[in-house]
Amino acid sequence: QTIHLKDYRAPDYLIDETHLTFELFEDHTLVHAQLVMRRNPAAGDGLPPLVLDGQQLELLDLHLDDVPLAAGDYQLTDSHLSLQPTQARFVIDSTVRIHPESNTALEGLYKSGGMFCTQCEAEGFRKITFYLDRPDVMSVFTTTLSADKQAYPILLSNGNPIASGEEEDGRHWATWQDPFKKPAYLFALVAGDLWCIEDSFRTLSGRDVALRIYVEPENIGKLQHAMDSLKKSMKWDEEVYGREYDLDIFMIVAVNDFNMGAMENKGLNIFNSSCVLAHPDTATDAAHQRVEAVVAHEYFHNWSGNRVTCRDWFQLSLKEGFTVFRDAEFSADMNSRTVKRIEDVAFLRTHQFAEDAGPMAHPVRPDSYMEISNFYTLTIYEKGAEVLRMIHTLLGAEAFRKGSDLYFERHDGQAVTCDDFVQAMEDASGQDLTQFKRWYTQSGTPRLAVEDCYDAHAKTYTLTFRQSCPATPGQERKEPFVIPVAMGLLDSHGRELPLRLAGEAETAGTSRVLAVTEAVQSFTFVEVPVQPLPSLLRGFSAPVKLHYPYGRDQLMFLMQHDSDGFNRWEAGQQLAVQVLQALVEQQQRGEPLHLDGRLIEALRAVLADETLDQAMVAEMLSLPAEAYLAELSEMADVDAIHIAREFAREAIARELFDLLWARYQRCREASRSTPYAADAAQIARRSLQNIALSYLMLARSEEALDVCVEQFEHADNMTERLAALAVLVNSPFDADKANALAKFAEHFKDDALVMDQWFAVQAACSLPGGLERVQALMHHGAFTLKNPNKVRALIGAFANQNHVNFHRIDGAGYRFLADQVIALNALNPQIASRQLTPLTRWRKFDQTRQVLMRAELERILASGELSGDVYEVLSKSLA
Ligand code: ARG
Ligand code: ZN
Repeated sequence: QTIHLKDYRAPDYLIDETHLTFELFEDHTLVHAQLVMRRNPAAGDGLPPLVLDGQQLELLDLHLDDVPLAAGDYQLTDSHLSLQPTQARFVIDSTVRIHPESNTALEGLYKSGGMFCTQCEAEGFRKITFYLDRPDVMSVFTTTLSADKQAYPILLSNGNPIASGEEEDGRHWATWQDPFKKPAYLFALVAGDLWCIEDSFRTLSGRDVALRIYVEPENIGKLQHAMDSLKKSMKWDEEVYGREYDLDIFMIVAVNDFNMGAMENKGLNIFNSSCVLAHPDTATDAAHQRVEAVVAHEYFHNWSGNRVTCRDWFQLSLKEGFTVFRDAEFSADMNSRTVKRIEDVAFLRTHQFAEDAGPMAHPVRPDSYMEISNFYTLTIYEKGAEVLRMIHTLLGAEAFRKGSDLYFERHDGQAVTCDDFVQAMEDASGQDLTQFKRWYTQSGTPRLAVEDCYDAHAKTYTLTFRQSCPATPGQERKEPFVIPVAMGLLDSHGRELPLRLAGEAETAGTSRVLAVTEAVQSFTFVEVPVQPLPSLLRGFSAPVKLHYPYGRDQLMFLMQHDSDGFNRWEAGQQLAVQVLQALVEQQQRGEPLHLDGRLIEALRAVLADETLDQAMVAEMLSLPAEAYLAELSEMADVDAIHIAREFAREAIARELFDLLWARYQRCREASRSTPYAADAAQIARRSLQNIALSYLMLARSEEALDVCVEQFEHADNMTERLAALAVLVNSPFDADKANALAKFAEHFKDDALVMDQWFAVQAACSLPGGLERVQALMHHGAFTLKNPNKVRALIGAFANQNHVNFHRIDGAGYRFLADQVIALNALNPQIASRQLTPLTRWRKFDQTRQVLMRAELERILASGELSGDVYEVLSKSLA
């Protein structure tokens, strides 16, 4: 069943107060809900039937205004409870029995290990009690939990604790009250045997907020990084957005079984433990940065999401796109801005562009969906963040801040739309964003082709932009977007030329933003003394596919001279893409491979330049991923791409061995002599060291093996240890590999998150036999389909990062994934649906593979009772 944005109607009834009581037992839970309700004056006259959402609830008792209702007084289906109110104000009391102990979908109330926890976004609350489970129904919540005191000494919910006590039978209870109105999706409770670390934060206006992070006792030593990140986030949101925290206490709880990264429940964020726990011994630098980013993201939701929330789920990007933009800027301020941008753009172009080109493509504000859980996508999150970044670019930082201030002030306590957000930006800046809003309604990745023309006589230089956007499901034709193109012009010495458009009185610096608004549009610069080389889309100022016919020498020139760090990297990537695509074509024609030596020379210059940031050197040395090369191809030849890329890597390793070796040794030496810190300088050094090591090992020499084993054995941190393990796993040194894997597993067998890394490293190994290795690991004692992190680490890493093995020409990889999706469908529909993604991309591949992939999609479709999540993805992929 499809739900459409155009069918939105305000709720018939409102819930002013919600009083919940949970009695938690080992074999069931009783939920009593008292809802203080009234007719919504904005929704019309009369008293329509009240239709409450509710799924998998065993109704034990129902009262309307203290009068017990008999079976004939209400209607109950498997998704709704309806009854007829007799006055405009009334109170509903219900008691239901639910079974968190057997909830494997991890939605609603469930058990993760020994603790009870909740995940209500988007529509999980209806699995807890009968309710108006929609974000535009906002209520004040009071929650009482009771449970066995010994097993569940900690009882938490949203807001502030207001009462607690003991019962005779070894049970205890606690009551929490959240003074802020919120939709049900922000409700949370936790009960368990948890320890916490505690700190405090003094807000801008001088209030002290207690900060607590809860975790199972064995992980108590891995919380400091998350706490530091939280305090930095609170300060940053005050400084950059003027947003202060509003309750007396802010809590984070780490749980092991969690479908997504984390959840911003009011005052009680619940996190996948992979996004909270960090310790140098067990978490990589990347994991540390992820913790910092996710802690910030969830904290920032307190304003962009909670205080101002979404009217309906079509507006999801209102909070997610904005909050991703906010957390990205936070991370850029805490670490290297350029490196953060490079990582985000590489991710967007590889994965979101593929989504935009696939059967599930949808606008940032979708028009329809079947299952909202399927719309927590890269388009809503990452492209949504790019849309916010473009508004920021077009308005400038100051007007953007005025706009966000106005938005928060105007809509505090409300459930609003993306239009309301844009309206605030327009009102505060005086700019008209009508056309810009097409970014919210049109799906697909625009293509922007650029031509240029220099008139040496007139000293004018003209850039002509042509934009287009491919058809996407339900959208044949697109209107032109507003595309902000940040750019500059370089002369032949690499100097930046002053920029002045025809008709302008003065030059406006050497870098500026052109707003391309038409299908074809030209910009003419005057007083341009020489033929310039353009640097376009600086900082990736718009999520488009840019085409300018750069020659390889020009790209090498930009790599060295562009004043924009992002574009220096981008020039290197484009050079590598061109060189790799040429190799792919040679391979497809059956010719011997010949690598353009300019790629080597460009990387030699990068490696030899001691003044460059080491993180930038590492980024420049990283060739475009196979998945990105696949995304760029009309038809992805996975084998040729793999062969071409490996050929290039081996050539780089061979030609630059001495430089790589020297750089590696110096980095490793610095590591040995300095205690680990997850700071920007050290992270940069380790990333350079580890990519250097991966090249050195391609030489397959004993001396390289020795340094790799040394690093694996003696590193004092997981970043170096895991990188060495990954390199060994991908090497031909079978004995050393087996030895390292066994040692690692023995040492970390009790640490679930580290074992996830151990699975993932093996699942991503592209050497022959990948499927068999993954199948064997499915039987490993530490693996279980019930834990989403394990599924992602083994099945997800295999299907998404191990192209040559997953796309085996006999279809065995596809069959394996389909089998897992069928099994997961019965356990956890959200995870099943996510794992399906690689099969939905069947149109990208050759005829043989297309047939095989489709056959597996059909097989899943015919496999029995399917969840709505899996059904939606299957039906759209096969359409
Ligand atoms: N709002 C959460 C976040 O991005 C994600 C919750 C996703 N939940 C889901 N069922 N898909 O911070
Ligand atoms: Zn979010």
